[in-house]
Amino acid sequence: MSSTMPKAVAALLLTTFMLLLTTPPAAFCLSTDFYAQTCPRALTAVRAVVRGAVTKDRRMAASLIRLQFHDCFVRGCDASVLLDNTTTTVSEKGAVPNRRFTKTFRVIEDAKSTLERICPGVVSCADIIAVAARDASASVEGPSWDVELGRRDSDAAFASLAASDIPTPKDDLNTLIALFRKKGLNSREMVALSGAHTLGTAQCLAFRDRVYGNVTVVKDVIDPDFARKKRRMCPASGGDRLVQPLDPVTPTSFDNNYFKALMIRKGLLVTDQVLFSGGETDGVVDEYSKDEGKFKNEFAAAMVKMGSIEVMTGSDGQIRRTCSKAN
Ligand code: HEM
Ligand SMILES: *[C@@H]1O[C@H](CO)[C@@H](O)[C@H](O)[C@H]1NC(C)=O
Ligand SMILES: *[C@@H]1O[C@H](CO)[C@@H](O)[C@H](O)[C@H]1NC(C)=O
Repeated sequence: MSSTMPKAVAALLLTTFMLLLTTPPAAFCLSTDFYAQTCPRALTAVRAVVRGAVTKDRRMAASLIRLQFHDCFVRGCDASVLLDNTTTTVSEKGAVPNRRFTKTFRVIEDAKSTLERICPGVVSCADIIAVAARDASASVEGPSWDVELGRRDSDAAFASLAASDIPTPKDDLNTLIALFRKKGLNSREMVALSGAHTLGTAQCLAFRDRVYGNVTVVKDVIDPDFARKKRRMCPASGGDRLVQPLDPVTPTSFDNNYFKALMIRKGLLVTDQVLFSGGETDGVVDEYSKDEGKFKNEFAAAMVKMGSIEVMTGSDGQIRRTCSKAN
């Protein structure tokens, strides 16, 4: 081939190639070594804080993974979820899905104050959330992954989007698929990410209707014995804050028992069970229930992808000095 290619064409191709190499990209990208020069100790500092917090309370691992989801689904991964109310912005912290994060916010603030001591003004709160989610997973036998870095923080919160863009625990499968698609995630990635429910708990108010049969979606897709037991732990009225594990077998370890539970109709939330109730995602649940390694790999890849939703980079946004306040 090359011997028949005219010299002029070869030269043109070479020039084009060189131009591609030297032209700066239109937008900045995230990269795993973003802080290598500016804050080389950033990642180990975050890891130490996360490990300490998870050692003290293993459920913190669940909550830190969930925090990345609730940050990234609301106007991108910009730490908007961490901002408090001010005269100009309404905090996302008061939105229904975010009401159990009080201690979790403190862990991120801890990491931030350490980072402000060792390299002030350098590491964004949005990046801390992403690194903490990875370290949380790794600290409970979950997968690890290289975190892409370089996100910038927002100067505003988006409370109404926290109510509209984060799924509710009673959504049906099509709604879930649509909400994830809106963020660039396909149904397979949605199932993988839902596998985070291998950890942690849900409050009675989130699963009461399901265990009392007051649902239209997945109405009969519940193991009767499971439903009876959950009703004992969640009264028909009152007790909204009583919690039950999302993974009925191993709620403090990252494994595939969550998917096995779905296959025997023991999903706690409606949105858990819809993933295996005769719809298009049944096959994925089946695959993950049989192959924990596949689940973990695809979960890790989906977390990286979720971590890149609508990120601000370069000189957009800001690096907050305190995660709860815009500069
Ligand atoms: C598919 C749509 C999803 C819905 C409707 C949903 C809903 C919920 C609800 C209602 C709870 C219980 C919260 C409470 O009682 O205060 C919960 C807990 C949790 N969620 Fe999800 N979730 C979804 C997807 C995800 C994703 C994508 C992740 C992370 C990748 C995630 C991670 C978690 C974790 C780890 C917990 C336990 C938190 C704890 O124990 O503190 N969830 N979720
Ligand atoms: C912030 O203000 C809004 C509206 O005034 C209020 O509904 C909400 O509960 C407040 N959030 C927090 C976390 O205090
Ligand atoms: C059933 O669910 C609906 C909608 O979520 C709710 O308004 C109603 O109060 C529930 N009924 C009972 C008996 O819990």
